[in-house]
Amino acid sequence: MTPASFLAAESRLPPAPADAVPDGFSSVRDFARAKAAGRKIVMVSAYEAWAARLLPPGAADCILVGDSAMMVVHGAPDTLEATPELMALHTRAVARGAPGRLLVADMPFLSARKGRAEALDCAAALLRAGARAVKIEGVRGHADVISHLVESGIPVMGHLGLTPQSVHALGGYRVQGRDEAGAARLEEDAAALEAAGAFALVLECVPATLARAVTARRGIPTIGIGAGAGCDGQVLVLHDLLGFNPDFRPRFARAFADGAALVREGAARFAAAVRGGDFPSDREQF
Ligand code: KIV
Repeated sequence: MTPASFLAAESRLPPAPADAVPDGFSSVRDFARAKAAGRKIVMVSAYEAWAARLLPPGAADCILVGDSAMMVVHGAPDTLEATPELMALHTRAVARGAPGRLLVADMPFLSARKGRAEALDCAAALLRAGARAVKIEGVRGHADVISHLVESGIPVMGHLGLTPQSVHALGGYRVQGRDEAGAARLEEDAAALEAAGAFALVLECVPATLARAVTARRGIPTIGIGAGAGCDGQVLVLHDLLGFNPDFRPRFARAFADGAALVREGAARFAAAVRGGDFPSDREQF
């Protein structure tokens, strides 16, 4: 059996009890098990060793080393500056912080568009850095590259809807698939990704009804971000869910903590302690 047909068979697994699926996946095969069991998948984007180390093992089934690192960590306006080298650097950092955890790394801008050899080199660099799978935006024009990676033993996660690497072609960060033609295109692309052997599919910023329909029709699990509650799972950027970026609050990104207040209060307390002569204390010096 080829890797692609093996993953396809896994995606047609009979229903299993939800508690048969572990919190914190050990392999990409757990994605199919989760969908079969109706157990929601939790994915978190993280980029640094310290954050990966603090993320409790069961809190995310899978860590995505997203090229959103370019915006979140490096302050860029988009993800286009990300390179295979940068993605490998972040992947290695996360792998060091969370050894043994299931990591998926983003193939950066254009890395899946220059043919099979370049895509293989990029995916190999990411897997050698600690990822167990790669995520690729879009499918039109590079379905053959996706199949080739899958047939080469590299699990591929798809990404449709708002694909940030195409921000200029899309005319900005906007909801996709709102009209009939856009919805039909997204349905076709999801089918093409499944046929190419992708083991899961991120749906970003698409209407909830469309995401629910794709989720029902596809054998592979969908993981939504701004795609409603009907997806098989959800992904958020760690910094967003921790509230580290109060200036960036898109409708879909709920902050589950007030990280910004934590940073500001911690820094203010440090400054006050230094200025007030309270830090360092006798016990904090040699
Ligand atoms: O780069 C990223 O973090 C992503 C997720 C937001 C899906 O692609």
